[in-house]
Amino acid sequence: MSTEPCTYVIFGATGNLSRIKLMPALYHLDAEKRLPEGTRILGIGRRDWDQARWQAEVKAMIQAKASEGIDEAVFQRFSARLYFHKGDIRQEACYAELAERLDSGQFPRNVAFYLAVSPADFGIVMEQLSHHRLFDEEDGWRRAIIEKPFGYDLDSAQSLQRRISHYLHEEQIYRIDHYLGKGTVQNVLVFRFANVLLEPLWNRNYIDHVQITHAEDIGINGRGDYYNAAGALRDMIQSHLLQLLTLVAMEPPASMEAEALRDEKVKVLKSIRPIPKEAVHAHAFRAQYAKGSINGEKVAAYLQEEHIPPDSVTETYAAMKLYIDNWRWRGVPFYLRTGKRMAKAQSVISICFRHPPLQFFRGTEVSCKNPNWILLGIQPEERIRIEMAIKEPGLEMRTRMSSLDAGFRQEYETNHDAYEDLLLDVLIGDRSLFLRFDEVEYAWRIIDPILQTWAIERDYIATYPAGSWGPPESRRLFDKEGQFWRSSLTPECN
Ligand code: BG6
Repeated sequence: MSTEPCTYVIFGATGNLSRIKLMPALYHLDAEKRLPEGTRILGIGRRDWDQARWQAEVKAMIQAKASEGIDEAVFQRFSARLYFHKGDIRQEACYAELAERLDSGQFPRNVAFYLAVSPADFGIVMEQLSHHRLFDEEDGWRRAIIEKPFGYDLDSAQSLQRRISHYLHEEQIYRIDHYLGKGTVQNVLVFRFANVLLEPLWNRNYIDHVQITHAEDIGINGRGDYYNAAGALRDMIQSHLLQLLTLVAMEPPASMEAEALRDEKVKVLKSIRPIPKEAVHAHAFRAQYAKGSINGEKVAAYLQEEHIPPDSVTETYAAMKLYIDNWRWRGVPFYLRTGKRMAKAQSVISICFRHPPLQFFRGTEVSCKNPNWILLGIQPEERIRIEMAIKEPGLEMRTRMSSLDAGFRQEYETNHDAYEDLLLDVLIGDRSLFLRFDEVEYAWRIIDPILQTWAIERDYIATYPAGSWGPPESRRLFDKEGQFWRSSLTPECN
């Protein structure tokens, strides 16, 4: 793996992703001396900005995200790496000039093209880069980083793939799912495969069901156009939540090497039982937030948000039930759930174990109504918690639940944004945390029947008050009495 310098060429450099994630991540990498000497960052945008203006803009982007403030000396070094290329990505001239510029000797020959642009523009950017021979790897590597969503459904993902495979080899393509860059998500693999005590329990004999929840208290944050066309199922479940599911459910890969890891993830996706159209209602539930209040503040309904048509039935909450028909998981339901404007921001994987047989406690007050849970807190609480019953002190035989907690980070340890890890992996050519096309394809296969059914049911959508945990009707997905949504790392019944 090389750690030679590269040029990051960022399409959409003045956009939201670049402001919020990419520039701050590159700056932090530089602060930690992880960017090789000579690395350059060339932002592409339509504005008429010179170098100095671009450097000032980037400084503002970083300042807006840096709670601890900006380090002037580091920024000086970082700033010297920043260049701006004025151009319209829909015009050929932009690429002709870019090719000339990249040839000028001012930039490293290894180039990572980051497509932080609307998916509608992926095709044209790829085509033009290829036309100007910018993907040719004659004297350095050329890689393309593609943001989600990769397609809009199975058909469009396949046609996008056909299109880009004219221009690039699979080894040059880095499809991002930023969840894989999160430390707590990578910790799922460490927890499972570096601790021998779990493996014997990690199957249908001991696990009752698995839940994966991603709740957000924020709304759609001004992204009305995108979100209304996407909805929660596409936006979160097709990508991030199904990726989390593969990490929980996969067999131990032969190594951490990209293909070994991705082969195992694809096997899980392929083993998911397809949902026939007539069973969509038994497997999936959607809803939209109505007005409500979050942390004491009143917030508007989805239909009142900017750019949302008044009759929209786009879901801001989606829940679904899946079965993985393989030897390990047959019969164990996996419940996935996500929503905007929920009570609290919380991402957690909750593994609920079966109830133990209780004959030993016959005639005592022990009822063991609570099963064991393992909770993998992804964010904001970054810890793993194992809940178990212990005896209450006292003369009677009574139990209560207690837990073993393993925090992910000590207070003094720094937090790395997912994008830092991923941007560095592109540089060293490690694709293990990026998606192979068959992962994307099988993920679309799983949710396509739901998307198609919902697309024609345009008359009604359930609602939930903003600030709640979603509509209680979503409980109809549960297979049996006693299963309930687990919304938090601390014990509760809701
Ligand atoms: C993005 C979705 O991919 O992930 C957003 O488009 C969502 O709607 C975001 O808010 C969640 O990511 P994170 O890292 O904030 O949990």
